[in-house]
Amino acid sequence: MADILPPDTLDSRPPTPAALLSNREKDRLIERGFLGLYRWYTARSQETRNWNADRSFDWRAIRKDLPPELITVIQGFFAVEQYAPDFTSSLIHLVRRSHGRSHFQMRWGSEEEKHADAWENALLFTGQRDPAYIEEYKRRLKSQTWELPFPDAIHNLVYTVFQERATQLNYLNMMKIAQGKSEKPHLTGVHDPVLAKVAQTIAVDEAAHYNFFLEGVRMYLYYYPQQTLEAIRSIIGQFAMPAATLIPDWQQFQETVYRAGIYGPRDFQRDVMQVAFRNLGVESRKALEEGIRKTREVPDFEGENPRTTAIWDTFDYGMVEGDVRRLHDKIGAYEHEIGFDAYDPTVFVENPEVPGRGRPQPGGAGQAADD
Ligand SMILES: [Fe+2]
Ligand SMILES: [Fe+2]
Repeated sequence: MADILPPDTLDSRPPTPAALLSNREKDRLIERGFLGLYRWYTARSQETRNWNADRSFDWRAIRKDLPPELITVIQGFFAVEQYAPDFTSSLIHLVRRSHGRSHFQMRWGSEEEKHADAWENALLFTGQRDPAYIEEYKRRLKSQTWELPFPDAIHNLVYTVFQERATQLNYLNMMKIAQGKSEKPHLTGVHDPVLAKVAQTIAVDEAAHYNFFLEGVRMYLYYYPQQTLEAIRSIIGQFAMPAATLIPDWQQFQETVYRAGIYGPRDFQRDVMQVAFRNLGVESRKALEEGIRKTREVPDFEGENPRTTAIWDTFDYGMVEGDVRRLHDKIGAYEHEIGFDAYDPTVFVENPEVPGRGRPQPGGAGQAADD
């Protein structure tokens, strides 16, 4: 039916859409994006965040009279981060066929390892946990193995976006307490420049991790919107911090971070979920759920595929495309700087499924992540 048009409308017939990208081609494009991003990330990590867990802080100067609640929090931060070898080995194994992603996970693991060592130093130098206690605590933690929360790469990738942002938020709020900015009566007047610097330094790394994984999810969202939105919906419905079930004193830690104003369910809603949603062009959890539901309700007509076109209404695809383009511009500039572009440049390829192809895209207010 669509082929028969009255002669007077022939000129206004829309051009034949470009052939759709095969899944194989989409996967190749995403992998190239990850590889370029990983090379850029590593150079930037070494240039701007090459700190050392022992030498970058004046450990002897950390306060010895910190409130016990903060010691509980530091110990919990250490407990989570010291699973870095488990996190790293599981994730590397999951993405081992991907150069960009598996090499990135090693770099990421080397940064997470510094976080564990820095928090352990903080715990030791506050003088409120003796070395024998720390050793026994570590032994108990290491007797458990952290395992991947999800069996597939896309769910773990999406989970990591929310987890990195949540971790960054925890450390930023710890930094504020150590800067004497807490409004909680039991924590006012805590001034510890060393602790503040530790929390800030690690929070900057977590922001960089968040941005890396965010760029990855944006690429998936751009080329595989349906699967990615469904993964996002499933993650936010069951989000928990990593290793929560492995750490013996987790409950006490969780209550302490909550009472300290560091992290709780409202912080997750407002400062983790909403922030990640904004960065992914998703308006709200409600809009996400509605969009997925409507997409499912659309009948699948023969010859056309309205089911896949409906998904594009669920998020600001114009913004996401702009962000994926900007990511490729950033990679392109890096490859030009090194000279890679003369051999095998990473090139952005439009997804022909994106509605309104050829017209100016709405939105476009997003920004390429800088860290
Ligand atoms: Fe970390
Ligand atoms: Fe991290």
